[in-house]
Amino acid sequence: MTFMSSKLDKYEVRRKRPAKGKSGKSIAHESAVKHVTGEALYVDDMAELAGTLHVAVGQSTQAHANIKSMDLSAVKNADGVVDVVMLDDVPGLKDIGPVFAGDPLFADGKVEYIGQPIFAVAAHSFEQAKRAVLLANIEYEVLPAILEIKDAIKENFFVRPTHMHKKGDFRKAIDAAPNTLNGELYIKGQEHFYLEGQISYVVPTEDKGMHVYTSSQHPTEVQKLVSEVLDLPINYVQVEVRRMGGGFGGKETQAAPWACMAALLANRLNHPVKIRLARQDDMVMTGKRHDFYDTYEIGFDDSGKLLGSNIMVAGKCGYSPDLSDAIVDRAMFHSDNAYNLQDTQVIGHRCKTHTVSNTAYRGFGGPQGTVLAEYMMDDIARAVGKDPLDVRYNNLYQDGDKTHYGQTIENYHMKELLSQLESESEYRKRRESITAFNAANKYKKRGLALTPVKFGISFTVTFLNQAGALVHIYTDGSIHLNHGGTEMGQGLFTKVAQVVANEFDVDLDTIMVSSTNTEKVPNTSPTAASSGTDLNGKAAQNACIILKQRLVTFAAEKWAVNEDAIRFENNHVLIAKADETIEFTFAEFVAMAYTNRVSLSTTGYYSTPKIHYDREKADGRPFYYYALGAACSEVEIDTLTGEYDVLRTDIIQDVGKSLNPAIDIGQIEGAFVQGMGWLTTEELNWDTSGRLTSNGPATYKIPTAADMPNVFNTSLFDRPNEEETIYNSKAVGEPPFMLGMAVWMALRDAAASVSDYKVNPPMDTPATPERVLNAVQFCKERS
Ligand code: MTE
Ligand code: MOS
Repeated sequence: MTFMSSKLDKYEVRRKRPAKGKSGKSIAHESAVKHVTGEALYVDDMAELAGTLHVAVGQSTQAHANIKSMDLSAVKNADGVVDVVMLDDVPGLKDIGPVFAGDPLFADGKVEYIGQPIFAVAAHSFEQAKRAVLLANIEYEVLPAILEIKDAIKENFFVRPTHMHKKGDFRKAIDAAPNTLNGELYIKGQEHFYLEGQISYVVPTEDKGMHVYTSSQHPTEVQKLVSEVLDLPINYVQVEVRRMGGGFGGKETQAAPWACMAALLANRLNHPVKIRLARQDDMVMTGKRHDFYDTYEIGFDDSGKLLGSNIMVAGKCGYSPDLSDAIVDRAMFHSDNAYNLQDTQVIGHRCKTHTVSNTAYRGFGGPQGTVLAEYMMDDIARAVGKDPLDVRYNNLYQDGDKTHYGQTIENYHMKELLSQLESESEYRKRRESITAFNAANKYKKRGLALTPVKFGISFTVTFLNQAGALVHIYTDGSIHLNHGGTEMGQGLFTKVAQVVANEFDVDLDTIMVSSTNTEKVPNTSPTAASSGTDLNGKAAQNACIILKQRLVTFAAEKWAVNEDAIRFENNHVLIAKADETIEFTFAEFVAMAYTNRVSLSTTGYYSTPKIHYDREKADGRPFYYYALGAACSEVEIDTLTGEYDVLRTDIIQDVGKSLNPAIDIGQIEGAFVQGMGWLTTEELNWDTSGRLTSNGPATYKIPTAADMPNVFNTSLFDRPNEEETIYNSKAVGEPPFMLGMAVWMALRDAAASVSDYKVNPPMDTPATPERVLNAVQFCKERS
């Protein structure tokens, strides 16, 4: 499979012109054309091998129950059914919890959410498997279910222990403050709605080996879990991921169960087995962004400056820990967003509920912390009668300040970034015209908000911050690149290939990026925490540096020159002698190196420097650096219906020195719209039995093209990262997700306008038209 290289004409001597497509250039995504034409191959597009079987999964219909009896004979006898498996059929490890135990591959005598897998069926066709599943006869002894965060807190029902961050004496600070406020905020979760659902195709190979094609952000974890479930050494299992049709965190841990089920059946039957969840099953059976219930108590002075804060964040984890410990930690880390919380206490609960186990989703808990900080700023602004932007400025961290987890703030250019956006968006002028508009219009009201985002970059579990790469140069000068990162549309493969092009100063189309494969680069971290490029870009660069050094050593000896006389330039290698410069094309040069027995292949490795964190003490430097950004949004609401439009959004995002401005801007715009969807139209609903009722696109509304802001300006802060990341760039995948807060805060601003900004209306999320209408009513009644 070739992905990036156009065929190299070995007779063409590449002209000496600047190499094309290097780092820093706006190059189209390596699969952009294939995505549009439909030629890009996803797992379900692969030609199926003869004898391929298809899987459907039998699901719990109860939120919490003991399984009294289970009769699967009708399932086994159904048309086309080849095999039925349940927990007892697992030869190896039965619990596939990614960090902590708690996720049995199939229900273990009891069920803890509606949709929990109980058994799986393999049949000759998907339809046959789906039909057979319905014939199960399962009797339950129904138990009381806990479905809400507040009930879980009341019962101390947690999947992991509560954790705390502390700085100074918050009680004293709040008690001494001239003004105090407290409040609460409920933030609903979010369905990933990746266009490609969960899927795995498992092909048994010789000697019980398994080749797993999957749509996973974490091939190494799938490899490990498949091997454990089958009780095989890890080296029996190969996991390959060419691309995902979106992951957004939903395929970090939750691609694994389906791969394990398919592998279990493939192992028993010695047949290729495919499992692909139908959309509704995917929505019901896989975890989502966590709902959070947050509370706060704050003290502040008359200028609106915070003096102390007392914060609680509580995540709805579902029935098992999954990644929730780290997700609630990240919510706690980000409950300050851009601001100094001063003396503070931040408590984080991991609530257990009898619902699907919630998981990673773009921002990984961070968004559910930052929204609280913005809500507090907004509250303070109206309490002291100031423009919310001025209160935000007033509370920004200064360089040298410490966060509530002990990290010192450095290189904090937030004020500068906000001022730039304030002037480019003409915030003050538009504030005036909005005031005039609102005075002149009885039913339509406009709102404006400018909100910052500070997002910590690194896995907070320090050991995950490492990566590997593999680079081969072939004798025609073409380059094969592999690394541990996975491509889910974010452009990682393009950016890392650009790094390699840059290192050798060759055209990008000489580099082929290949599927992520556990046989090429082992022991990888998930592609997550926005750190894909930071980690894999550096690992690939490291491989290139090793290869270049070998080539330089070879040339220095052969032509008897100093090493610094050799340059890689414009698809050529130049060797400067005293009286002449010898030139080779890159291809000629590497072919010569090969005949002189120089190895043209190596691995590269990287681990992030400077980070350390002691979770017990809640102290250290969990983040290598912060990515900054801000958005300014203007909305118009209809105060009779609560309906609204986003009139304009301006964004400035700090991506450091951009590796690829086109891809970065794509990430920023996409993340903003996804974040806006989370806070406005996307609403997950559950009935009182614990059943998800928003289980398809008809009942769950993701933003469409028509929901984009009418005017949408995105620019890059574009200044080098002070830290030595790959070419001083910054991560971009998750941070701009939180820019969607500007729309939500603008909606609250528009609602508050009916009270002349005297009242702070409650605005839980998503701020659907109903909630906006309630906010307007609330303001009307109190003014
Ligand atoms: N962009 C696209 N198109 N599709 C995705 O699934 N996932 C996001 C973000 N951008 C995603 C995306 C998430 S949750 C993360 S953590 C990062 O990409 C992961 O990739 P990176 O580390 O290479 O930025
Ligand atoms: Mo992203 S939530 O870290 O996969």
